Formats: sequence, structure tokens, C-alpha cells
Amino acid sequence: MKKIALFASGNGTNVQQIAEYFAENKEIKVDCVVVNKQNIYVIERAKNLNLPCFYFNREDFYSTDKVLDLMRLREVDYIILAGFLWLIPQNLLANYDNKIVNIHPALLPKYGGKGMYGHHVHEAVVANHEQESGITIHYVNEKYDSGDIIFQARCKVEANDTPDNVAGKIHLLEKEFYPQTIEKVVLENK
Ligand code: GAR
Repeated sequence: MKKIALFASGNGTNVQQIAEYFAENKEIKVDCVVVNKQNIYVIERAKNLNLPCFYFNREDFYSTDKVLDLMRLREVDYIILAGFLWLIPQNLLANYDNKIVNIHPALLPKYGGKGMYGHHVHEAVVANHEQESGITIHYVNEKYDSGDIIFQARCKVEANDTPDNVAGKIHLLEKEFYPQTIEKVVLENK
């Protein structure tokens, strides 16, 4: 049995979808949720999903081993970023080499980098009259959105689409592909 931890900073639709996808899985278990903000809806979702949820602040993340210690204590094998918006610190990268995965709501390398997250991405895609957007699932390194790409899926952006419309299309792709891609990554690297 491989254990995954889900890191999140916001609403948590991806956390919910991943947790539901693996609920009955015999080989992969969602062990816990880690958040870097208080008062975010994902905390409520974790409670409803009966998943332990741990909060760490900036100091904990970047100046201590508290998060790494928790991952080791709970014997977490993979860290899955599900709308988590901080860079991953070196101590986690070193101990989870090729075992930290992120989803980005655009076709990287376009629309990546600092400040390009969530709705900002969809606003930029619409402002630039792109005809398509999509999702990128990738390994995490020390820079934003630049690790090796594992999987991409595309959707059309119509001339009259708003950023909200695009966000809706992206969420559908995330729901369809993120859990199953995580499953592949974990099982193939067993
Ligand atoms: C998702 O669309 C995810 O791709 C994006 O944040 C959203 C989180 O939604 N991630 C990034 O922008 C990472 N740079 P959720 O909290 O409802 O899952």
C-alpha cells in the first residue's frame, strides 16, 4: 500500500476528487491533507472526508523540518499538490525525489511561473485570445511549474468564453485525468 499526502491552499475540489477516486483502492491510500492557510474550504472538505488535516505556516515550511518529519512519521510515499501555491522547500524535494507531483491549469510552458495560478491563468488565456488551454501534470522541482511533464490534456477556448467558462472546462479535465495520472505514476514507480 502506497500512501499519498495532498497539499492544498484553497477550495479543494481536486482534493475531494482524488480522495473519492482512491476511497476503495487497495494499493493507494490518501493519508492526509496538508494546508498552508487557515479558513480555507479544503479544511472543511478534509473533515467531511475523514482525512486528517495539518496546517503549517511559512516559518514551519521554510525554516524547519516539521513538514518532512510529519511525512516520515506517517510514512507518506508521494506528495500530491492539489492547488497548493507555495514553492516546495529543499528538504522535501531532496527526500521525495520524483515523488512530488503538481497540476497546473494551463498548457505549460505557457502561462506558468510565479503569480500564474488559479483564476489568473484563465484570465490571461482569455485576454490573449488563445484558442485552446488545458492541464499539465508534472513533477515538482525548485522552480514554479518547470519540472518534467508527465501528462497534458487540452480543451478548446471559444471566442466568447469568459475566464469562468475556461475554469469550468479545466476543472472537468482535472477531474477526469488527475486521479488516474496519480495512480499511474505511483503504480509504475512501485
Ligand atoms: C486548480 O485548477 C489547479 O490546477 C490550480 O489551482 C486550482 C485549485 O482548485 N493550481 C495552480 O494554479 C497551481 N499553480 P481546487 O482548490 O478547487 O482544487
